[in-house]
Amino acid sequence: MEEFISWRDDWRLGIQLLDEQHRLLADCINRLVQQCSCAEDVAEKDREEVRRRLGELLDELYGKAKQHFKNEEALMQERGYPGYASHLREHVMLLAELKSTFITKFEQGCCHMDPAVFKALKSWFIVHVIRSDREFADFIRKHDQR
Ligand SMILES: [Fe+2]
Repeated sequence: MEEFISWRDDWRLGIQLLDEQHRLLADCINRLVQQCSCAEDVAEKDREEVRRRLGELLDELYGKAKQHFKNEEALMQERGYPGYASHLREHVMLLAELKSTFITKFEQGCCHMDPAVFKALKSWFIVHVIRSDREFADFIRKHDQR
């Protein structure tokens, strides 16, 4: 089965810790989507188990995103990144969106998820990783060349 988010090498920032965490986040979203897709055929009596596993994956995704943002913020502060304040605001917003939009929708939808939610979660991930973190990676690269 093709992965929902297939990792691309040009997404790499060249900052090992952040790259590893981004891959783990993508992997977690892939498992979540897969769990939901498999769950469509599950019998009514097994729905409780599906909900439990889905809940665990959602906790994992939230925990990993939170930890990743924390590490990223620490690194930005350490390197004196001028975009720190706005990136911090973005992280707060991204976590709130993850909780209030996606986690709520997954919990409600469970085995009957609207594909639009999967798509929106994919953009949530890609916009953050590719657009936003790239600026920080460029800053680090320029800084280290001096
Ligand atoms: Fe990131």
